[in-house]
Amino acid sequence: MVNKDFDKLVLNRASLPADPEKFFEGMGHFRELMMMYNSAIREVTTKLTILNDELSLGNRKNPIQFIKSRVKKPLSIVNKLEKLEKEISVDSIMNCLNDVAGIRVICSFIDDVYKISDMLTKQDDIRLIKIKDYIKNPKANGYRSYHMIIEIPVFFSDSKRWIRVEIQIRTVAMDFWASLEHELKYKKDLEDSKDIEDELKKCAKVIAETDYKMLSIRNQIEGKK
Ligand code: GTP
Ligand code: MG
Repeated sequence: MVNKDFDKLVLNRASLPADPEKFFEGMGHFRELMMMYNSAIREVTTKLTILNDELSLGNRKNPIQFIKSRVKKPLSIVNKLEKLEKEISVDSIMNCLNDVAGIRVICSFIDDVYKISDMLTKQDDIRLIKIKDYIKNPKANGYRSYHMIIEIPVFFSDSKRWIRVEIQIRTVAMDFWASLEHELKYKKDLEDSKDIEDELKKCAKVIAETDYKMLSIRNQIEGKK
């Protein structure tokens, strides 16, 4: 049962203990909120799995290699709201944060990334909020990935809620690169971090070229079938 004054709950930063994790665990409202985001993840994951199953019936195997998902940790939620100078409330979590529910879809080939995103956004119960195509427009550091923010309706016992989900779709190679680059973010004090950044950028370029080459080889093979 979703509490009726659920959206109006506001927390005072000063009242938050050092460990938001424990604090949130004991709060019914936030447990409800996390349950909603988890439900949205389940809905979207099912949609993706169905698309993958259907596409696999053709002559190609699984366009999706795997799907990862996570709900943002309470501490990260608080930190992000503070950074945005928003109050810590259910309302601001739902309205200001796009990435409380996050899904990462890892595809075999670049064209699968676009195929999956297209098929998903064409479904009439999905609202597309935002797209960032870092494959067509890579970030300065070399990061490549296709990002979407969507909203999906989730039906509870007495209400329907539109829940926002961040979906990142990329190839195995892009994911491999992003995992290593992510580690660099936490180790900015490395003496040779500039060199590592340059090396990573070069790798991103090689990986992108290889991704396109793999696609072209696959098309040649399929053309010959
Ligand atoms: P936040 O970074 O979550 O505040 O979102 P944003 O509004 O800047 O959105 P964006 O779509 O650029 O990034 C969302 C997510 O994509 C991040 O939280 C990371 O998971 C991932 N991401 C974006 N840029 C990079 C990057 O340069 N390297 C890596 N490894 N991941 C990135
Ligand atoms: Mg994020």
